[in-house]
Amino acid sequence: MTQRILILDFGGQYDQLIARRVREAGVYCEVHPCTMPLEQIRLFDPVGIIFTGGPGSVYAADAPTVDEGVFALGVPILGICYGCQLLAHRLGGQVTPAQSDAAREYGKTETVFETDNVLFRGLPEKSVTWMSHGDYMARVPEGFRVTGRSAACPNAAIADDGRRFYGVQFHPEVNHTEYGREILRNYLFAVCGAAGDWSMESYRGRAVRELRERIGAGRILLALSGGVDSSVCAALLSEAVGNQLTCVFVDHGLLRQDEGDQVEAAFDGRELNFIRVDAAERFLRRLSGVTEPEHKRKIIGEEFIRVFEEESRKLGAVDFLAQGTIYPDVIESGLGNAAVIKSHHNVGGLPEHVSFREILEPLRLLFKDEVRQLGRELGLPESLVSRQPFPGPGLAIRVIGEVTEDKLRILRAADAIFRKELEDAGLGAAASQYFAALTNMRSVGVMGDGRSYDYAVALRAVATEDFMTADWVRLPYELLDRVSTRIVNEVPGINRVFYDITSKPPSTVEYE
Ligand code: XMP
Repeated sequence: MTQRILILDFGGQYDQLIARRVREAGVYCEVHPCTMPLEQIRLFDPVGIIFTGGPGSVYAADAPTVDEGVFALGVPILGICYGCQLLAHRLGGQVTPAQSDAAREYGKTETVFETDNVLFRGLPEKSVTWMSHGDYMARVPEGFRVTGRSAACPNAAIADDGRRFYGVQFHPEVNHTEYGREILRNYLFAVCGAAGDWSMESYRGRAVRELRERIGAGRILLALSGGVDSSVCAALLSEAVGNQLTCVFVDHGLLRQDEGDQVEAAFDGRELNFIRVDAAERFLRRLSGVTEPEHKRKIIGEEFIRVFEEESRKLGAVDFLAQGTIYPDVIESGLGNAAVIKSHHNVGGLPEHVSFREILEPLRLLFKDEVRQLGRELGLPESLVSRQPFPGPGLAIRVIGEVTEDKLRILRAADAIFRKELEDAGLGAAASQYFAALTNMRSVGVMGDGRSYDYAVALRAVATEDFMTADWVRLPYELLDRVSTRIVNEVPGINRVFYDITSKPPSTVEYE
């Protein structure tokens, strides 16, 4: 059985980051709401528990808390920020709101550590931590000693080595905490005794075994978009149950240059009953004359479901509908909410009229980068595994105004040049997403001896961690120059190239 760390979620903004750090260290973990019943915690059988930060105050009437029994399990606990205060509060210490602004700490803070304590072993005596708290621990509970101090916070870290309870007022999971990774590793390995042997290889083997057991002789249907998640899901299911799986790939004609063929080629030779439905014509027909962005999205979502349903009807009843839901889609801020599985889908939602018994979500415990790793393990090509996000509605939301075959042709060609040049310049990793969009603006230019009246294409490259906010990438002028020259020379219909220098907010990544 895999060793697991249980992360109890008190609604902090960095909770997912804690989970990522733990997994990066080769230790499997899951995030669950802080209200997880004691019995379930016991069944989970963690080698260590982490209490996350949270926006609340431990002394508030509705303060999120944990079952008393957690402290009697004999399992090591690390409390972070709110989690640290909760630990202190529940074990007899005292937490107080900071009386003055000077006692509140936000941001980088020099902290002094007792480096003989197991949690801070190997650290320099002084380093920078990231603090973000209004309350502070005024009195440390009995049995604990102070192991870290900052100017405003005399009790920045506490330890009870006997019970293996540790608390830090700062956030070790964020990059601004200089030795945050080391502190977490000390907790995982030196305190919890984790082996650090969790890997994608072991995950793959286990997932395949479990899927075989669950699926038996059943039939599975998967809507394959060609995106990373659904592709990895297909490869994993195919390895588990071979041709009990049917994958329906709806080519809506709004894909990038050669994308449909690439997706098909990636699955060539695998047993997964790959069905490619060429639905370009019907999508374009329905989009004809439509210019309003939300209307476009709605039509594409509906049409996608319709095509998918038509195909599934041809197949007859299936036992399982598989989805490429991944952890960030599932994870929920705790605060008493039971985990709800979101039916996240690339385009629209779940089809309503497909008959199936159960939903399978084999990637629901993996983060995006782990899904990519698993894809590599399963032998999917790098071009597919490291694909940047591509929106379900495809190029339709990158063609401003009405979508026509001609505009799509122009956009595909310009987009392919931009992406290729950016990658050849070695900048693929500097941008999280980069693409071209076709503006609906035409302007006058001069080509050779003649006048042109053509479209302007916009290039966009953004860097982002979470796609909620994004910054535009400072691409070198030489690269932009090369791309612009190539596009105007090689793509009939374009005589002007813009580079988008707006961030999100106030813009969005996509154009519609
Ligand atoms: P925005 O434009 O909202 O995009 O800043 C944020 C991220 O989401 C992607 N995106 C979508 N992905 N279906 C998807 O699967 C959609 O309808 C959709 N719209 C936007 C976008 O590409 C970016 O990565």
